[in-house]
Amino acid sequence: MSVRILVVDDSVTTRKLVSAALSSEGYEVLEAKSGEEALQLVEESTPDLAILDVVMPGIDGYELCRRLRNNEATERIPIMMLTSLDELDEKLKAFEVGADDFLPKPFEPAELRAHVKVLLRRVLTSFVRSGDDVHGKIIAIHSLRGGIGSSTLAVNLAAALYQLWRMPVVLVDLSLWNGQAAVMLNLSIRNSWSDFVDIPAEQIDATMLDQVLLSHDSGLRVLAAPPTPEVAELLSADVVQKVLSLLTEQYAYVVVDLPHDFQDTTLSVLDKAQNILLPLAPELVSVRAAATCLNVYRQLGYSKDAVHLVLNWTFERRGVPRKDIERALKRNISLVFPFVKDELVSALTLGKPPVLYSPNSAITSLFEDVAYFLSKDEHKQNPPDVKTPSLLGVMERMEARRRKRVRV
Ligand SMILES: Nc1ncnc2c1ncn2[C@@H]1O[C@H](COP(=O)(O)OP(=O)(O)OP(=O)(O)O)[C@@H](O)[C@H]1O
Ligand SMILES: [Mg+2]
Repeated sequence: MSVRILVVDDSVTTRKLVSAALSSEGYEVLEAKSGEEALQLVEESTPDLAILDVVMPGIDGYELCRRLRNNEATERIPIMMLTSLDELDEKLKAFEVGADDFLPKPFEPAELRAHVKVLLRRVLTSFVRSGDDVHGKIIAIHSLRGGIGSSTLAVNLAAALYQLWRMPVVLVDLSLWNGQAAVMLNLSIRNSWSDFVDIPAEQIDATMLDQVLLSHDSGLRVLAAPPTPEVAELLSADVVQKVLSLLTEQYAYVVVDLPHDFQDTTLSVLDKAQNILLPLAPELVSVRAAATCLNVYRQLGYSKDAVHLVLNWTFERRGVPRKDIERALKRNISLVFPFVKDELVSALTLGKPPVLYSPNSAITSLFEDVAYFLSKDEHKQNPPDVKTPSLLGVMERMEARRRKRVRV
């Protein structure tokens, strides 16, 4: 689901200009021609950011800003005032009523987009700093067998966690030789793990890290794998540990797509992960690889409860039956993903993972249910009053399953 921006201006020209500048970047724009109409729209769907004109007949921009700040659904959203008034006291008044930013007309579309990006990013990090939820949960996806959907799982799970809670979520691609997570999200790899080569771990700080993280329009942040593989050998486990610890201070969830190995860098994540998802396909080589992983986890002393086997049907038929796999591994499979070729292929070919681009599909519901299952207890026990559509969907499905069980 894309980021939703409310634009309120009585001038149709300005509305169209702002709208064009933002929709071209993939933002969803809601237009209102008055403060009154804006308040009505907000009742129907909460925007992620609002851009308000100051001088409007009826409820003006200042008053509208004040009311949005007093409304539970919109009290935290970034608000930008867009006006032809460039006087200092007008700006001060805007800040006084709760605006976060101010852009004088006329503006360049690129300038507007830059302001919007910065505002969205700032709100995402300040959210965690202001709350008590400062220790992110690390969920690692790890298997020794390649090509069985680890990255697909990582990308969609990270996106689903963000859609559920609207809290900061970062996807870390540690498949340093051949990571494709950024590509699966159609992000150009301007920055990546390569930026940390030659930098001592102790010199890496939150500001530097923030510059290296890519921003997806959905709100998800991504630490991309290097565009060229030779970097893989230049990154130390110390650097990976430092980056991970900084991320857990700022992000509620840190989802890590690991390479198919037990290198030091991989181990430094596995050691710290609260959950390890171990994907396997219903074929013998994959089951053998999973058995090796489970064995190594046991030797490393990882808690059994932290590890979940994920059976992923990457092909259509004639796989090893679930029961046989469970018997061979002496473990239950926690999650099963069916074969869903078309939608997952669109993620690979167009960089559009289903969780973000097909909100109503069955596979999205499944990823959301899995994300909920893996969410922190404190989030499940204290859900926000204003629930995201994704969380409402998960709750409805849980309720439907509960009713079905009661009836049976
Ligand atoms: N449940 C599924 N149904 C159909 N196709 C799937 C399913 N899960 C994954 N795939 C497909 O399998 C292929 C490999 O997926 P993906 O890249 O996520 O695996 P990986 O384990 O991360 O691979 P790599 O070893 O290259 O990192 C992709 O073409 C993906 O679309
Ligand atoms: Mg992968």
